[in-house]
Amino acid sequence: MSERRGFASDNHAGVHPEVMAAIAAANDGHAAAYGADPWSARAQARFREHFGPAARAFPVFNGTGANVLCVSALTQPWESVVCARSAHLNVDECGAPERAGRKLIVIDTPDGRLTPEHVAPLRVRIGDEHVVQPRVISITQSTELGTVYPPDSVAGLAEWAHANGMLLHVDGARLCNAAAALGVPLRALTTDAGVDALSFGGTKNGVMGAEAVVILREELADGFLYRRKQAMQLASKMRFVSAQLDALLAGDLWQRSAAHANAMARRLADAVGGLPGLRITQPVEANAVFAVLAPEATERLQQDWPFYVWDDNTGEVRWMTAWDTPPEDVDAFAADVAAVLS
Ligand SMILES: Cc1ncc(COP(=O)(O)O)c(C=O)c1O
Repeated sequence: MSERRGFASDNHAGVHPEVMAAIAAANDGHAAAYGADPWSARAQARFREHFGPAARAFPVFNGTGANVLCVSALTQPWESVVCARSAHLNVDECGAPERAGRKLIVIDTPDGRLTPEHVAPLRVRIGDEHVVQPRVISITQSTELGTVYPPDSVAGLAEWAHANGMLLHVDGARLCNAAAALGVPLRALTTDAGVDALSFGGTKNGVMGAEAVVILREELADGFLYRRKQAMQLASKMRFVSAQLDALLAGDLWQRSAAHANAMARRLADAVGGLPGLRITQPVEANAVFAVLAPEATERLQQDWPFYVWDDNTGEVRWMTAWDTPPEDVDAFAADVAAVLS
C-alpha cells in the first residue's frame, strides 16, 4: 500500500512514465555490460549536448555516491572540502566523505548559499604542512533550503576558487529545478560559470535511480573509471541507468518536470504565505517551502499529510513538491493549513 501523496520529499514521488517507458524499451535482448552499450553512448552524448564537448559523464546509482566520488576525485587526502553546514554532504551522508578520507569544513549560512566572503577566511596557513589545505568549494544547487544560486553567483565563486588554487563542485541533486526556476540551460549554472565538476541529479526529478558525476575539465577525470568501480558505483547492466538519464535529457523532460515541481511550491507559498500563525522562513525559489508554525498545528496536519519537521527546536517544517504534485493537492493542503491555523 503506498502512502498518501504529500509534501515529504521529491524522493517520495514515483518514476515518470516517460522514464519507465525508456527502461522498458531498453529491456530488449542482450547488450554489452558496464557502459559499453548504445544507451550509455547516447546518454554520454546528451551530457555533452547540455554541458559542452569537454564534459565526461559517469553514471552512478545515487547522490551520495556521486558527491563522495566527486570530492574525492578533486582532492588529495590532505585537502579539505568547504561546504555549507546544511549541505547534504555534511548532514545526510552518514560521514561517507570522511570515511573516504576527506575533511569537510562547514560554514553557517542563513539560506544555504555560500559566497567567496564565507570561504576567504579559511584560506590561511596555505603551504603549512600541519594544516589540512582547503581545495574544493562544494555548493548545492538548488540548496537544501530551497534557494538558488544565479549564474553570476556561481561564476563569482568559481572565479574566486580558481584565483585561490581551489576548485568548485556543485551538488546538483536538484540542478534541474534551479535551471528551470531561472529559465536558463543547465550549462549556464555549470560549464559556462566555471564549475569544475558536478553531481547531476535525476532521481528527484522523476528518474528511478540514476545520477551522474559530470567532470567538466578533462584532466580531472583521470582515473575516475577506477574510482567509480572501487566505490561500487559501476552498474553492470548500465543500459538501464543510462536509458533513464537519456530520457530525462533528450527532450524537455528535465525542464518540464522541474518547472512543474517549482510551480507547485510557488502555488503553495502563495496560498499559505499570508496566514496568521505561519511564517515562511526561506525565499521560495525552487521546489521547497520552509515555514514555522505551532507544533500542535504541525502534528494535526501530519495526521493527514506526509511531510517532515526540518528543525525540532524551532518548529520549522519543510514542504517539498515533486514532478507529480497536482495543483489540487496543493490547494487541498493549503486549505487544511488554513483550517488548522484558524
Ligand atoms: C542536496 C542533495 N544531495 C544529494 C542527495 C542524494 O542522496 P542519495 O544518496 O540519497 O541519492 C540528496 C537526497 O536527498 C540531496 O537532497
